[in-house]
Amino acid sequence: MNNAAIGVFDSGMGGLTCVKELNSLMPNENIIYFGDSARVPYGTRSRDTILKYAEQDIAFIKKHNVKMIIAACGTVSSVVGMNKNAAGEIPFTGVLLPTVQAACSKTRNGKIGVIGTAATIKSGSYGKAIRTIRSDISIIGNSCPLFVPLVENGFTDRNNPVTKLVVEQYLAPIKKEGVDTLILGCTHYPILRDAIADYMGSGVELISSGSEAAKYACAFLTGHELLTDRTEKGTNTYYSSDSIEMFEENAHAFLGEEINGTVIKTELEELTSLA
Ligand code: DGL
Repeated sequence: MNNAAIGVFDSGMGGLTCVKELNSLMPNENIIYFGDSARVPYGTRSRDTILKYAEQDIAFIKKHNVKMIIAACGTVSSVVGMNKNAAGEIPFTGVLLPTVQAACSKTRNGKIGVIGTAATIKSGSYGKAIRTIRSDISIIGNSCPLFVPLVENGFTDRNNPVTKLVVEQYLAPIKKEGVDTLILGCTHYPILRDAIADYMGSGVELISSGSEAAKYACAFLTGHELLTDRTEKGTNTYYSSDSIEMFEENAHAFLGEEINGTVIKTELEELTSLA
């Protein structure tokens, strides 16, 4: 048993899709979330910059009493790769391993599609991770740089003509290959799930990275007897490096409900002094 919080971080607010799943799987756990909204997006940046930001985000989360750290950001997870020691002595997971495990167990025809930010696809990490589990899988990846701005600007309705056009543009090469499983390797993509599902068709299984990471964390904490023994509902505390008001306003899109905890501002100077 361990009553410390679960730490979650992301380049911005998209990691709240992971928090939503954590709250549903483990309602008694406390969550500490850090969203680096002042420096989002990470997905268009260089590997070195992403690694530096990730190091600072992890150092910030470690200042709190946490028993596990989850990088809910697809971009950070891809750049950090399968390194389970990214947070030192504190158990760490990105979304990479949980997501590829789910995809490999779901695929029937051995063809998996991966979509993510430019940095995620460029890293090739999903392909490498899948091959550590199954060498017989064929993988087709594509970066979808307009998906994040679409979500952030509210273009999420499955019938929106702009959204439909962009979805078709990015997913056509993947659909053509006949994949039966598609990894949504970025925090924002589950918000476009309906439009993506409409285009890919009902025979294609969509794997949401934030939600798989939450399931993985739940299994890890259960297996290591690190769940809380608290019987009352846990608390969520959110830290943002940008405006608290903006965080509170936009959280709904990712959490599916109004913000359910305190939001605290983190100064960039504090972050940059940490690593
Ligand atoms: N959180 C990022 C990811 O999951 C998307 C936004 C960004 O580019 O920072 O890859």
